[in-house]
Amino acid sequence: MISQKMQDALNEQINKEFFSAYLYLSMSAYFDSKNLAGMSQWMKLQSEEEYQHALKFYDFVLRVGGKVKLSAIDAPKTSWDSAQQVFEESLAHEQFISKSIHTLMDLAIEESDHPTKSFLQWFVDEQVEEEDNVQQIVDNFNLIGDSKGGLFMLDRELGSRTPQETAE
Ligand SMILES: [Fe+2]
Ligand SMILES: [Fe+2]
Repeated sequence: MISQKMQDALNEQINKEFFSAYLYLSMSAYFDSKNLAGMSQWMKLQSEEEYQHALKFYDFVLRVGGKVKLSAIDAPKTSWDSAQQVFEESLAHEQFISKSIHTLMDLAIEESDHPTKSFLQWFVDEQVEEEDNVQQIVDNFNLIGDSKGGLFMLDRELGSRTPQETAE
């Protein structure tokens, strides 16, 4: 059984993961409107992955006898200045989520809640991956600068992402 404090914190994380799914779906729609089909596809898969993260927390809360409390999801923004800005914001968002996971881990340690610590370890590792992936894309944008050809190539490359690659 988890503490009330831990239960509340995990429920907040469920909301954050759903918001991430919402944010990335909105980014996917933005890319589609800019005819960047590859980036749109990449973000759509990213959104699905975030939905799966939310379900992982949901399943864990139920498994340890806690109560799931779903709350309203904030509306994400719908437009950006450039494709590069979208990925920069995605990176900042992942850094925010990493901090949030680390705060959860701090609480689990403080409470000697070993099951939650063990559960959260997967997310600690996953966030390292997530930040690294998005950082690489931001680096690619910095390399191509204003090159339209570079943007076209990067869109093609990101469009080759498959759901299998995103699986845990
Ligand atoms: Fe996530
Ligand atoms: Fe993520």
